[in-house]
Amino acid sequence: MDIVSLVRPEVAAMEAYTPILPFEVVSARLQRAPAAIVKLDANENPYGPSPRVRAALATLPFPHIYPDPESTELREALARDTGLPAENLLAGAGADELIDLIMRLFLRPGDWVVDCPPTFGMYGFDAAVNAAQVARVPRRADFSVDVPGIEALFASRDGAPRPKLVFVTSPNNPDGSVLSDEDLRRLLALPAGVVLDEAYIEFHGPSRLGWVLEHANLMVLRTFSKRAGLAGLRVGYGAFAAALMPHLWKIKQPYNINVAANAAALAALEDTGYLAESVARLTAERERLTACLAQVDYLRPYPSRANFILCRVVGRDARALKLALEQHGILVRHFNKPGLMDCLRISAGKPEQTDQLLDALKRL
Ligand SMILES: Cc1ncc(COP(=O)(O)O)c(C=O)c1O
Repeated sequence: MDIVSLVRPEVAAMEAYTPILPFEVVSARLQRAPAAIVKLDANENPYGPSPRVRAALATLPFPHIYPDPESTELREALARDTGLPAENLLAGAGADELIDLIMRLFLRPGDWVVDCPPTFGMYGFDAAVNAAQVARVPRRADFSVDVPGIEALFASRDGAPRPKLVFVTSPNNPDGSVLSDEDLRRLLALPAGVVLDEAYIEFHGPSRLGWVLEHANLMVLRTFSKRAGLAGLRVGYGAFAAALMPHLWKIKQPYNINVAANAAALAALEDTGYLAESVARLTAERERLTACLAQVDYLRPYPSRANFILCRVVGRDARALKLALEQHGILVRHFNKPGLMDCLRISAGKPEQTDQLLDALKRL
């Protein structure tokens, strides 16, 4: 029998997700040791985690025992960190897991979600996996969310199924623009769930996590990947209205936070000084990098409130530039799709990494 014919048709029809190449593969391909690569392509935190995290990982007491399905200790630590009750917080294997979990909570095949491209690709990806349909309301030229466009979409659907979820990101990936309080309020007035992805919020300002206590249709996602340098260990969390929590608990994989990730996240939260310093350094470097990139005559950086900068490449081939930088051991992300034609996204790195990038840009 043809086993493949039994694959869900929406999955069979899906395009495969194209992740960036694993670090080891890039290192082998460029014939450079990982330490000799300036990795500015995935918005990771080049400082990595606090030494306390490494110590906690080296002394894990019970790696042979399944983890606490409720991540109680971590949620209590997050409650202290965020000021929200632990009852409103759910931990996930990265914010990525929670995006999928939210979709599985609300969406049946054929249901609609609103996506605002250009933005983080996982909303569209998880919608496809969940057999949902995506109403795309493109961002404006300055990357601001077209809130009237989203409102019009809801108003115009007499009879047609209304979207159940709206995904917005602030600061947005890949440009670093933010959603105003006023725009968020307007979205929250819609008859839908609003998922506010705050993966980069620490590089901007106060989180709106606390708003979930006032707005039952708001869900806010955060991560340890950027601020805490734990991208490889996969820890994120979400804040939800109390009424949603029992349903999320029902569908969550019991052991989604493994013991290493749990110990690392706890140790990271204990070292508040390290967290603050690493964010402050990256934020300062973002500002320096933006100013320096603006001096390069073929680059047009957009102002960013995250730990990366989107640049339009003018009068040169952006892809060729990305490949040329790669030959210098510098990795950046290239985009060439609607709203992001001829663009490079460059993560904020350590000062010496910025220097290497600028040096290479001068020589190219
Ligand atoms: C907007 C946004 N949300 C979520 C994530 C993923 O976060 P995590 O590593 O916690 O899964 C990213 C990662 O790049 C992102 O850019």
